[in-house]
Amino acid sequence: MSSTTDLFSSIQLGRYTLPNRIVMAPMTRLRAVGSIPTPVMAEYYSQRTSAGLIVTECTMISPMSNGYINCPGIYSPEQVAAWRQVTDAVHRKGGKIFLQLWHSGRVTHPSLLNGELPVAPSAIAATGTLHTPVGKVTLETPRALETEEIPEIIEQFRQGAVNAMDAGFDGVELHGAFGYLIDQFLQNGSNQRTDKYGGSIENRARFLLEVVEAVCQVWGSDRVGIKLSPSNTFYGMHDSNPQVTFSYAIEKLNQFNLAYIHLMEPNEDDLGTGDVLNPVISIFRPLYQGLIITNGGYDKSKGNQILGTDGADLVSFGRLFISNPDLPKRLATDAALNSPDFAKVYGRGEQDLDKGYTDYPSLEMQGS
Ligand SMILES: Cc1cc2nc3c(=O)[nH]c(=O)nc-3n(C[C@H](O)[C@H](O)[C@H](O)COP(=O)(O)O)c2cc1C
Repeated sequence: MSSTTDLFSSIQLGRYTLPNRIVMAPMTRLRAVGSIPTPVMAEYYSQRTSAGLIVTECTMISPMSNGYINCPGIYSPEQVAAWRQVTDAVHRKGGKIFLQLWHSGRVTHPSLLNGELPVAPSAIAATGTLHTPVGKVTLETPRALETEEIPEIIEQFRQGAVNAMDAGFDGVELHGAFGYLIDQFLQNGSNQRTDKYGGSIENRARFLLEVVEAVCQVWGSDRVGIKLSPSNTFYGMHDSNPQVTFSYAIEKLNQFNLAYIHLMEPNEDDLGTGDVLNPVISIFRPLYQGLIITNGGYDKSKGNQILGTDGADLVSFGRLFISNPDLPKRLATDAALNSPDFAKVYGRGEQDLDKGYTDYPSLEMQGS
């Protein structure tokens, strides 16, 4: 890679040639009323197609994966048909879009699960609170999955991948980050199992690797990515030796020849704990032979710097894409950035879905 590589250099990602290295990071926005994607979501994603790649918000693979009111699913024919409107709108504007497949595991509540107890590797509650149909609640202790239930969940990931293909996506990203089910299996703060899915690092990584394998069988490995967050402390996540645990998982992922690994840096809360791997990218880059998307707190200059020094292959931006639908153009021209209205980041019910969502202006609309 030449030293002139920057955010605006094209790149081959799996079978796709992307026009730039700017990825829109997955962001939950809660506009899928009753878990079915709404037309405003097609508008939102199609406004952001100048990103080299869009990764959608996390999307449930089953009713038991639900963690939030009005997050979308990919397990019913209605959801698949509604996502098709999104992918068509993105493709009409020349964009590429991967669906983020997700199971929340212990980060949910019976009121989001028809009264059922959340499931997890072990009966250990996540810390923190959640907005639910019965108000703001403290996270409860989940039920530990029986060993024989685990293949069913892997099958749900596989079926979700099939459905994503039917819905017209260009690929899928597995949500292995942020304290949700795959992450819960990997880290021993949330996995105290004594069967083949717990105990040794090899056993704790088994669920992740089996899900990756199942999803690759559907898509071919070059259209599958996975997001990992080795330093995330959200929802009480921790591991007794994250460097060893994540090194094992990342080295194992080499065998799949995935489209990419999406690696998240610690955020301010994580850094505030004083005890996290930082920077994540410099620890794990040497261990992985494929493409890495780095994420977390990047701006233009930090993004160009990491690409220019061969430190990562692509950079994803989350919050900057909330309020800047044409972020790549703004970065390229050093234009001013709109500030996000954080009070409207998440949809609330069925009203005003567009507010704070599709109503941020492009440069064109601002007359520049
Ligand atoms: C509103 C919001 C929702 C998010 N939802 C998701 C999600 O659904 N899946 C995910 O992997 N990360 C999610 N994230 C994390 C982002 O993908 C990204 O890792 C984080 O914002 C750091 O990148 P940034 O500093 O560029 O914003 C979310 C972040 C925000 C701000």
